[in-house]
Amino acid sequence: MPYPARIDSVHVETEDRNIKSFKLILENDEHQDKFVHQAGQFAKLSIAGKGEIPIGIASSPTEKGYLLFTVNKVGLVTTTLHRMEAGDMIGVRGPLGNCYPWERMEGKNVVIIAGGFAFTTLRASIVYMLHPDNRSRFGDITVIYGARNPGMLLYRDELAAWEEGGNIRMHITVDATDDPDWKYNVGFVPTITQEKAPSAKDTYAIVCGPPIMLKFTLPILTELGFPQERIIMSLEMRMKCGIGMCGRCNIGSEYVCQDGPVFTLAQLSKLPSEY
Ligand SMILES: Cc1cc2nc3c(=O)[nH]c(=O)nc-3n(C[C@H](O)[C@H](O)[C@H](O)COP(=O)(O)OP(=O)(O)OC[C@H]3O[C@@H](n4cnc5c(N)ncnc54)[C@H](O)[C@@H]3O)c2cc1C
Ligand code: FES
Repeated sequence: MPYPARIDSVHVETEDRNIKSFKLILENDEHQDKFVHQAGQFAKLSIAGKGEIPIGIASSPTEKGYLLFTVNKVGLVTTTLHRMEAGDMIGVRGPLGNCYPWERMEGKNVVIIAGGFAFTTLRASIVYMLHPDNRSRFGDITVIYGARNPGMLLYRDELAAWEEGGNIRMHITVDATDDPDWKYNVGFVPTITQEKAPSAKDTYAIVCGPPIMLKFTLPILTELGFPQERIIMSLEMRMKCGIGMCGRCNIGSEYVCQDGPVFTLAQLSKLPSEY
């Protein structure tokens, strides 16, 4: 059953206003206690009379008392959500799915590579790893994150703060810009990955983005020496039930909602290429 949640605040992320972040507070204290998630998981957001959609949890488990979701406006439910304001109520069901392999990544370096709005659960991951209780559990953290232009970058204030904090190596990039004050990289994510050439030694790579970015980035990681077992991806298949009951989201024998959405490239390479 979905938990009732109140929209606490809405933040417009991108200049085209198509991506907004929603800070939600579960109404019932008991539900707040029950909703214990890990970075990489998703939840189903529901709006009465419209439907229910899977959205990655953008807040870190270390951010207590609220949940953050960053939503791209594409169709019926997301457009209705974009029209809602602080104080409005929606439903939240979850947490669902698996998470990034935090136990296996402990003591290792982590490279996060992201393009476009697939940065949501990676924001959760970065905030989680940078938390003072967790930072020493991981080695070097490197982020390569790209968007079409500066106005399409998510979490802009946080990107700058992470860069200044010095606990993480940030490589922000845009496909193109005519902003003379732009101080970061210009170039596609795969190109910047090749240029920065993060070391594969004792390192996990988490890669999320549009198919075209994945197509060109994965061979570069292989060239850099990342084994398929240490390349982690998160899939965004169409879903219905979210709990392995309806068969809507399967790839071969795997249900993305339950066995995923997080898979290693080694796991995916054994499945039919339906993703
Ligand atoms: C595990 C998971 C995590 C996700 N995390 C996020 C997130 O953090 N932020 C976010 O904005 N979106 C995320 N999505 C995608 C999101 O679920 C869809 O965009 C949403 O369901 C669209 O609902 P709608 O009713 O607005 O669109 P609809 O009216 O159902 O469809 C509108 C258009 O979107 C396309 N579409 C619908 N669902 C999907 C989908 N799953 N993948 C690709 N295209 C789709 C349809 O083909 C159609 O063209 C995630 C999906 C999954 C499975
Ligand atoms: S969405 Fe129903 S089985 Fe995955």
